Amino acid sequence: MLVYVDGELLDSELASVSVFDHALVTGDGAFETVAVYGGEPFALQRHLDRLERTCTGMRLTPPDSSKLAVQVRDLAKRNAVLDGKVRITYTAGNSGLGSGRSGGPTRTIIATEAGGRSTEPTKVCLAPWPRNERGVLAGLKTTSYAENVIALDWAKERGGSEVIFENLQGMLCEGSGSNIFVVIGGELMTPSMRTGCLAGVTRDLIVERVGAKEVEIPAALLYTVEVEEAFLSSSLREVQPIMAVDDRTFLNAPGPVTKRTATTFADILVEELRR
Ligand SMILES: Cc1ncc(COP(=O)(O)O)c(C=O)c1O
Repeated sequence: MLVYVDGELLDSELASVSVFDHALVTGDGAFETVAVYGGEPFALQRHLDRLERTCTGMRLTPPDSSKLAVQVRDLAKRNAVLDGKVRITYTAGNSGLGSGRSGGPTRTIIATEAGGRSTEPTKVCLAPWPRNERGVLAGLKTTSYAENVIALDWAKERGGSEVIFENLQGMLCEGSGSNIFVVIGGELMTPSMRTGCLAGVTRDLIVERVGAKEVEIPAALLYTVEVEEAFLSSSLREVQPIMAVDDRTFLNAPGPVTKRTATTFADILVEELRR
């Protein structure tokens, strides 16, 4: 298996990065996970655009997107990844042992993995810890993901495959690696960007093509019959029906709106990959 480190193609067993990389201890970096279908990265430009937005939010000089695009496609081919993912990690580079940056060159790592997609109906758990929609990292896809890691571990212990965060206002926000959609009164809705969620590539495609309303939704509604259907969206979950939120079950999962959205998303995949 090959990886790219700073534009150099290396055997993954032999590739290494410095122990002084600032991302290692402080999470000073950005990343993207791009789904690969039939050897083709899906919606790559949208991911590269978001990487640039994350870098801007982190006060890091963004990488050269066009070079990255070539390397991502090249690596998927070289590693013969038919269905899987490519991860781009972009760090602040080396620093001293404090929180301050040393202003050294940034570091770019590209790696691939086969498989990993899951679209079967699933259980989620509502986290006891909030997302801070006012924090400096809100809406950014950074390597400071320990909150997500811990909360996901907690949810898995309870039989969930994903954890859902509400924000400081008690409004539904997002999952550890996914966005959430709900159906209320027959209408498809998703938390607005004001809630502090990430602008998921899958979320945005659904909002644009299916026409979900972007609103603030009290998280507690998930436990009531007002929420008729719910699903997760992400590069690796696509449109994944939610069959339970903690002890509340959705007997009809996937419901009609979820099914319609999944069909539209399948069409989007075909169209985008044909381009
Ligand atoms: C926190 C968070 N929210 C949402 C998503 C979904 O984004 P996308 O659809 O671009 O995969 C991700 C992706 O991993 C994420 O990390």
